[in-house]
Amino acid sequence: MKKVLVTGGAGFIGSHTCVELAAAGFEPVIVDDLRNSQERAIDGIGRIMGRKPSVHRIDCCDAGAMRRMLATEGPIHGAIHFAADKAVGESVNDPLKYYHNNIGSLVLLLRLMKEHGTQRIVFSSSCTVYGQPEKLPVTESAPDRNAMSPYGFTKIACEQMLRDTTSSDPALKAVLLRYFNPVGAHPSAHIGELPLGVPNNLVPFVTQTAAGLRKQLTVFGTDYDTPDGSCIRDYIHVVDLAKAHVRALEWMEGEGASSCEVFNIGTGKGNSVLEVINAFTGETGAPLPYVIGPRRAGDTTAVYADTTK
Ligand code: NAD
Ligand code: WQD
Repeated sequence: MKKVLVTGGAGFIGSHTCVELAAAGFEPVIVDDLRNSQERAIDGIGRIMGRKPSVHRIDCCDAGAMRRMLATEGPIHGAIHFAADKAVGESVNDPLKYYHNNIGSLVLLLRLMKEHGTQRIVFSSSCTVYGQPEKLPVTESAPDRNAMSPYGFTKIACEQMLRDTTSSDPALKAVLLRYFNPVGAHPSAHIGELPLGVPNNLVPFVTQTAAGLRKQLTVFGTDYDTPDGSCIRDYIHVVDLAKAHVRALEWMEGEGASSCEVFNIGTGKGNSVLEVINAFTGETGAPLPYVIGPRRAGDTTAVYADTTK
């Protein structure tokens, strides 16, 4: 079986991708030091796969540990690089943490891939690179805006790093996936979104409030220029997003795949915060106490994907 290195493989999107890789006949090799995830995600992956995955609990910025891991694993068909810090607000207060981990880990991974002869990489980018797009739905060719945060800048910088390294090395191929807003969980419920501490994102806050773990949800602003006044996003199911990574790996093996390609991964449909709340209560019947609060700094009014490409 072809081995695929999955950095951040115990995280929300990484764990769902590991099980889709296994279902497609790949062997996921997880590198994750669990700084933002839990052992039980690895147990859940194993339960769904029907066997224990290969796991290395190491920091993917640690060159020595990464070299030892690669020596143990042998040939690696491709890498999917999820590992990163992702809290937008924290990145404003501690930018160096983000530059070190998000940019540093990719520099090291690309160096080690070259040493090891691994020629394919899928990178976790984000719709944050678009900022507030001028035209909606937003296409991949929309100009990058000024980064909205140090976190956003790390995604812009990593995308550029991959364009530069693939043009300098004809053997290397990269796919940059710009995720919109991933939500949901594997239907088995063995894995899901398990944020540590208070969630920053809407859907885990909704589910934790409905479960009684949080007192109430605050809707961050209903004075935006949208039909109901709340912000609009493109919410994509995490299993669909996970499958996109398998397709990206397969696509890179095909004839004529360009050396570096970028794809939006969204549904193409925008929904407002109030629509998300109504959809959740409509489906579950669970009460969801919420209040309308002020805008959250740095939020864009509306963003959803053009999925034509
Ligand atoms: P997550 O925090 O659940 O997963 C990231 C995983 O990487 C965690 O398990 C963490 O422990 C691990 N990790 C981080 N730094 C590490 C290091 N140096 N060494 C080893 N392990 C490390 O996040 P996620 O939501 O699954 O996001 C995965 C990727 O997708 C990230 O690159 C993120 O920026 C990107 N992304 C996420 C979203 C989203 O809304 N969730 C949207 C767009 C892009
Ligand atoms: C969605 C909507 C909030 C929480 C962030 C990053 C982005 C990307 C995805 C990584 C917004 C509103 C939220 C709450 C609320 N991540 N909201 N009450 O802001 O689209 O994107 O995650 O790349 O870079 O910025 O996602 O889930 O935080 O918010 O009203 O308690 O829900 O204002 O309109 P966002 P989100």
